Amino acid sequence: MRLAGKKALITGAASGLGLRISARFLEEGAQVLMTDLNAEALRLEAERLGAPFIAHDVTSEAQWAAAVDAAREDLGGLNILVNNAGIGPSGTIEETSLETWRQCHAVNLDGTFLGCRAVLPLMRETVTREGSRGAILNLSSIAGVIAGANMAAYNSAKAAVRHLTKSVALHCAREGLPIRANSLHPAFIDTPILDNFLKEGSDRAALLDKLGRQIPLGCVGEPDDVAFAAVYLCSDEAKFVTGAELFIDGGISAQ
Ligand SMILES: NC(=O)c1ccc[n+]([C@@H]2O[C@H](COP(=O)([O-])OP(=O)(O)OC[C@H]3O[C@@H](n4cnc5c(N)ncnc54)[C@H](O)[C@@H]3O)[C@@H](O)[C@H]2O)c1
Repeated sequence: MRLAGKKALITGAASGLGLRISARFLEEGAQVLMTDLNAEALRLEAERLGAPFIAHDVTSEAQWAAAVDAAREDLGGLNILVNNAGIGPSGTIEETSLETWRQCHAVNLDGTFLGCRAVLPLMRETVTREGSRGAILNLSSIAGVIAGANMAAYNSAKAAVRHLTKSVALHCAREGLPIRANSLHPAFIDTPILDNFLKEGSDRAALLDKLGRQIPLGCVGEPDDVAFAAVYLCSDEAKFVTGAELFIDGGISAQ
């Protein structure tokens, strides 16, 4: 029960990492409000886990206000935000359309900016009232630290998320708030987002094999590899950790 008493909002919670983080947070005693753009998948998964949910496009300022209202109503406040919703378009600088560039930054970067800004008033109120602590966790990527020729827009957006997180961390610290902000940097983890690398007619097992060969530990990661790190960084065990970046990359960045 490492998150007992915590009230958490998790975006992109209908699939992949957001879904696994939601499940782990519930197991560790948190109350979780699950949000996602995909309303139908969200409803199915949230009902399965027994958690409240709200359909929510992270690129919309108005929908962030509605999500924060839902956290106030359904959870009674907020201690934790996991900005997890993301998309992973591939493409070199020459292949990337302005539309793809803008969409990639809108979801991965604007969504994270809007989320951090939207939740802070309620988090401030909650931690002050409860005498508790708060945490923001932003899903960047190893691609936010190490670039590749084939991920121009994603590299840019995730690098910005990494740096934005440090600014949020320093703001909260300067305000004297017991609210921390950190970023996670996974390498390839087996979720639907990897389908972006699938070429027509190609086999998913072969893709995972190929991606795994790029990783020193020899395989792609599992959603729980990220979820366990999220539990730590959002729990009070990490109360002296802010503005930090944690790589969950099977050793890629060590090379
Ligand atoms: N899986 C990996 O290999 C990997 C590696 C590094 C970073 N990440 C990051 O982890 C996060 C989660 O990715 P995942 O692997 O679980 O992918 P996923 O595709 O399984 O899940 C992403 C979820 O985000 C939701 N989403 C997309 N656009 C949205 C929007 N505008 N508003 C709200 N929700 C939206 C989708 O509906 C989906 O449920 C992303 O930010 C991704 O960039 C993933």
